[in-house]
Amino acid sequence: MTEDSQASPQSLDGRVALVTGASSGIGYEAARQLAARGATVVLLCRDAGRGEAARARIIEQTSNDRVELLLADMGSQAQVRRVAAEFRERHVQLHILVNNAGAIQRRRELTEDGLERTFAANHLGTFLLTRQLLDLMQASAPARIINVASSSHARGPLDFADLDSSEDWAGMRAYGRSKLGNVMFSYELARRLEGSGVTVNAIHPGLVATRFGRGVRWVRFGIAVARWFMVSPEDSGADVVHLATASELQGVTGTYFVRREPRPSSEFSRDVDLQQRLWTASEVLVARSAATGQV
Ligand SMILES: NC(=O)c1ccc[n+]([C@@H]2O[C@H](COP(=O)([O-])OP(=O)(O)OC[C@H]3O[C@@H](n4cnc5c(N)ncnc54)[C@H](OP(=O)(O)O)[C@@H]3O)[C@@H](O)[C@H]2O)c1
Repeated sequence: MTEDSQASPQSLDGRVALVTGASSGIGYEAARQLAARGATVVLLCRDAGRGEAARARIIEQTSNDRVELLLADMGSQAQVRRVAAEFRERHVQLHILVNNAGAIQRRRELTEDGLERTFAANHLGTFLLTRQLLDLMQASAPARIINVASSSHARGPLDFADLDSSEDWAGMRAYGRSKLGNVMFSYELARRLEGSGVTVNAIHPGLVATRFGRGVRWVRFGIAVARWFMVSPEDSGADVVHLATASELQGVTGTYFVRREPRPSSEFSRDVDLQQRLWTASEVLVARSAATGQV
């Protein structure tokens, strides 16, 4: 049963949510279901057309017109900083942050910040956006951060000497490393936020039939073959909303979920020293673009 089909899900009226990558798939569904329960929902999308279409569709489907759109490419640190500032101009509270935007790349590319795009967008963009909004969340506590990671995090370790994968880039390897970043960031942030009323958890959504991997032929082939047993975007969005709202998860933090079940993540991801090391390395990488504001 999906979250928004339950008899009387708790109203989210008065709550403010931000969902990245809300133009399609899991992010769109999470945003739609949060809006259906009355939250004010801010969609962070990179494409104006797809973002506006998602916003219009959610308003039409939920009759909740408190659905807003902000535009940014999570791979651009300047855009992430700008969009965080725009969010702060509109809102003084943030109760739910769903860091969902993510992609796998067909070829190795560098961002305008000179960083490998997969790691930059999937991990560093998430790291930077969250940090830019953290004080708002602390002021809004109880608040929850959900990082949409992946079981692909377990594919391999991070090479701290080469976070840009300049030596051995492969699409899936870079993607796995970026998702490992999501998981390790969740643990480290949860520890840093202990006692603040802001919880942080990571989710592997399962294999979900979305637009994920479009442009990467072998990923699309795999999805076409596996489609019949994959999770629907609706159910996956409901899983994310469950982690973001369920009363029984109040205070639960620093946990890796596979859908709704707590599970151990990879051994590498659970190493506290390595989590702290990634945090420090990420700070250095986002500090490069810090013209203003806190990093
Ligand atoms: N589908 C799965 O089986 C699966 C499994 C494990 C984890 N995940 C994770 O689930 C999350 C959502 O993926 P999905 O399956 O729902 O795929 P999707 O349908 O492709 O949705 C991805 C969303 O992220 C946005 N996005 C990607 N890169 C971005 C960037 N640089 N800046 C801003 N937005 C960006 C996309 O925007 P556009 O519309 O502009 O492309 C889209 O809204 C991802 O983090 C993915 O790693 C998915």
